[in-house]
Amino acid sequence: MAEYLAGKNIVLGVTGGIAAYKAVEVASRLRKLGAEVHVIMTRAAQEFVTELTFREISGNPVNTGMWEKVLHWNVEHIALARLADLVLVVPATANLVAKLAAGMADDMLTTTILATQAPVFLAPAMNSNMYTNPVTQENLEKLKARGMRILPPASGHLACGIDGVGRLPEPVEIVSCVKAHFSAVCSLRGRKILVTAGGTIAPIDPVRFLGNRSSGKMGYRIAEEAAKRGAEVVLVSGVSALPDPEGVRTVRVETTEEMRSAVLQDFPDADAVIKAAAVADYRVKHVSEQKIKKSDGEWTIELERNPDILYELGRMKKHQVLVGFAAETQNLMEYAKKKLEKKNLDFIVANDVTMPGAGFRGETNIARLMFRDGKVEEHPLMKKAELAAIILDRVEEILPCG
Ligand code: CTP
Repeated sequence: MAEYLAGKNIVLGVTGGIAAYKAVEVASRLRKLGAEVHVIMTRAAQEFVTELTFREISGNPVNTGMWEKVLHWNVEHIALARLADLVLVVPATANLVAKLAAGMADDMLTTTILATQAPVFLAPAMNSNMYTNPVTQENLEKLKARGMRILPPASGHLACGIDGVGRLPEPVEIVSCVKAHFSAVCSLRGRKILVTAGGTIAPIDPVRFLGNRSSGKMGYRIAEEAAKRGAEVVLVSGVSALPDPEGVRTVRVETTEEMRSAVLQDFPDADAVIKAAAVADYRVKHVSEQKIKKSDGEWTIELERNPDILYELGRMKKHQVLVGFAAETQNLMEYAKKKLEKKNLDFIVANDVTMPGAGFRGETNIARLMFRDGKVEEHPLMKKAELAAIILDRVEEILPCG
């Protein structure tokens, strides 16, 4: 794994919420990316996770209070506040948010945050009524207005037994935000990324066609994000109502064969191909040149197979990172695994399109990323733009250097 955070000092504040255990994974992931992690635990956090766990995982001494280390207490909060390239609080309880909003400094964490000039990221996690309570929302707004970054909590099943907003985002997403903050804005400069999006169609006659429900949003968000990161981006788009993204060479196609020839043209010198398109697997065998007139009785249309573009790329692939998508309605991971192997992909983005918030039309998605080594990352409901960033983070990690 590339050491994206080498030389960065990250102060990880841990407060007393049930999600405190997830901060252990955050610390571990940050360290794997090369960061120096300095953990500050509030008194309440120590009720949930031991100091020893964080000491082992971070490889650094853990701060558990202002007063224990008498030798250092007078300088420690300033030292960490100065040392920090970023302060990240996981989880941030309602209590911590309120204290920060009020400018309080009654323990090591609040003192460090008040004293630091580094960016501060908070990942709030709490009971959903506490989160939606106007006082918490006002406090968060105040902190945002003062320049702190709030990583929005996810919805889901909360420890208090109810479903609602307030769940800590997955550690991998929190770490992606940190990485995105530090990654040079142009982390894909010099790279060529080929993205496909939208649905291809199968014409029947000059006025009719067979199509699918793809909106193109996921692929367009990926193309935009890759362009933001400085890549040369080619977007081969099937049917989509979306406008051409800024800074992206967009090639519009309709049929699977048109998509295939456009993709093959840009494949040889591409560094990565991300195939988000919903490609029509069949075409109409006899396309009529004239509009077909209706007649009484049934109408049968004969279909024949289209080429599987991604399968072909998988066979031709040399240095390219290949990413596929699997939109399924059942047996999600089993089908995804088969596609990953058959098409020789580096990873596959699988989503169960029957889940509310996942799939074709909306602005959000729920995805699992499956890698060649069998590792699976689960991502809860998030904006397609956020998922696009995570997908490109993984591509960057796999891309060979240089
Ligand atoms: N794909 C492709 N060419 C095709 C069909 C699909 O390149 N003719 C790509 C899609 O862009 C996507 C992945 O392959 O990245 C989807 O895999 P696929 O097995 O084709 O999915 P489905 O069409 O849903 O197939 P199935 O009916 O087997 O579920």
